[in-house]
Amino acid sequence: MKKLVIASMIAAAFGMAQAGEKADVVVIGAGGAGMAAAITAHDAGAKVVILEKMAFPGGNTIRATGGINAAETPQQAKLGIKDSLEQMYQDTMKGGHNRNNPELVRTLVKNSNAAVQWLISLGGDFNDVGFMGGATNKRCHRPTGGASVGPEVVKTLYNTVQARKIDLRTESQVVDLIQDKKTGAVTGVKVKNDGKTYEIDAKAVVNAAGGFAGNNEMVSKIIPRLKGFATTNHPGATGDGITLSEKIGAAFVDMDQIQTHPTVVEKTGVMVTEAVRGNGAVLINTEGKRFCDELGTRDVVSAAILKQPTGHAFMFFDEDVRKSLKAIEGYIKTPDMVIQGKTLDEVAKNMGVPADALKATMAQYAKDQKAGKDSCCGRTKMERPLDKPGYYAIRVTPAVHHTMGGVKINTKAEVLNAKGKVIPGYFAAGEVTGGVHGGNRLGGNAQADIIVYGRIAGQGAAAYAKAH
Ligand code: FAD
Ligand code: FUM
Repeated sequence: MKKLVIASMIAAAFGMAQAGEKADVVVIGAGGAGMAAAITAHDAGAKVVILEKMAFPGGNTIRATGGINAAETPQQAKLGIKDSLEQMYQDTMKGGHNRNNPELVRTLVKNSNAAVQWLISLGGDFNDVGFMGGATNKRCHRPTGGASVGPEVVKTLYNTVQARKIDLRTESQVVDLIQDKKTGAVTGVKVKNDGKTYEIDAKAVVNAAGGFAGNNEMVSKIIPRLKGFATTNHPGATGDGITLSEKIGAAFVDMDQIQTHPTVVEKTGVMVTEAVRGNGAVLINTEGKRFCDELGTRDVVSAAILKQPTGHAFMFFDEDVRKSLKAIEGYIKTPDMVIQGKTLDEVAKNMGVPADALKATMAQYAKDQKAGKDSCCGRTKMERPLDKPGYYAIRVTPAVHHTMGGVKINTKAEVLNAKGKVIPGYFAAGEVTGGVHGGNRLGGNAQADIIVYGRIAGQGAAAYAKAH
C-alpha cells in the first residue's frame, strides 16, 4: 500500500500516467454544475474527482451577475412577491419560443426552490429578489442588496468542496472519454496535465464542461453573422464538452440557438446585468430617445439595439437605481465605464446626446411610470421614475453570451445517443446540455439549470456507480 502511494506521488509529480487510478464518479468542469454534481455524488457516498482545465474553478458561473431564478420560495414570500411554478414554466417556454423540451423545463421549475434552499443550507445568501427580462414576476434571487450572484454561488460550492475534501484538480483538461466498445458505456477519462496524459477509470462520468460562447470560430460556423462579435464568456468556454460527446456518439439538440446579451461594453466585454434594467434602467439611443421595452427578452432587445444608428445604446439610470443594486458599484469603479452627470444636462453633454431630447424622454418616462402605462414602448415593469439626481449612462451593444444548444439529456441528466437510448454511465448538466432553454434563455434560468441538473446528475451518477 505504502509503495503504491509513493509510486503514484512520483507519477503525479512527473505528470506520468497514474496506472490503476480509480474513482466512482469523475466530473468534468469545476463550474456551478460540476461542483453541484460533485458535492451531491460525494454526499451520496461516491468517491469523486473533479477535473478543471483552467487554473482556478468557477467557469462562467463566477461571472453570473443578475441572479438565480426560482418560484414559490420563502424569500419571495418574505418580500410579498406572488409567483407560481406554473408561471415560471409558462415564462420559460414563451421566452424560449416553445422550442424547449417541456419535461426538462417542468423538472427545472419544480426543483428551482430546492436548488436555492440547498445553496442557502451550504452557507449562501440569496435574499434579494428582482425582475429579469421575460419574467412575469420577481423571481431572480441574489445576495442581499443586489450583489452579483456568481461569486456567491461559486464561493458557496467551492467552500463545500473544500470542506468535504473532494479531490478537485485544476489545470487538468479532459481530452477524451473512455468508452467500453461492447456496451457503449463511458468508463473513464483521459486527462492532460502539464503536457502529460493519464487515465482515470470511473464508474460514471458527469460532463459539466460548460458552453461554447467563448469560441467564436465554433459560434460563427453555426451563425456567420456573429463572426467577430465580442463575448461575455470566460476563455475556457470553448465547447470541449461538445467535442468529447460527439466522439462517443451523443445526440445534440438546438446547436444553432445562440444568445447574445444586449448590454455589453464593447471594448472590454463587461456585461451590464439585466438586473439594472429590472430595477428600473432604460435604454437611450444617440438621439436621446428610448426605442424598446427594456425588459423584453434578450433576442428582441439585442435586435432593437443593433437597429439603432450606431448599433449601440446607453443603459441609463439615476441615483435611486444605483442605490438599489450593489452590482452597480463594480461598474462605477471600473475606469472609463460609467458616464456620469449631476443633472440631465450634464449627463447628456457627457454622453454626446441632445440634452433637450433626453430631458423630454425622461420627463415622459417619469409621467408614464407614475401612471403605470408606457406610452413609448409598452413596458409593463417600471420600478422607478428615474428622476433622482445624479444620472448614469453606460454605452452598450450586444455580445455572444449563451449557447442554448448542447448534449441531449433526459430529466435524469442521462446523456442520450442518436437513437434516443441512454449512454450508460454518462451524465451531463449545465450549459453543455441543450433543451432546457429552447430558442432563447431567460435571465436567471442558467443558474437554476446548473444547480437543479447538477444535483440530479450527481445523484444519478452516484447511484449508477453504486450499482456497477
Ligand atoms: P461553467 O461555469 O462555464 O463551468 C464549466 C467548467 O468546465 C469551466 O470551469 C471550464 O473551464 C471547465 N472545462 C471546460 N472544458 C473542460 C475540459 N475539457 N476539461 C476540464 N474542464 C473543462 N445565468 C444566470 O442564470 N444568471 C446570471 O446572472 C448570469 N449571468 C451571467 C453573466 C455572465 C458574464 C456570463 C458569461 C454568464 C451568465 N449567466 C447567468 C449564464 C451562466 O452563468 C452560465 O450559463 C452557467 O454558469 C454555466 O455553468 P456551467 O457549470 O454549465 O459551466
Ligand atoms: O444580465 C445578467 O445578469 C445575465 C443574466 C443571465 O445571463 O442569466
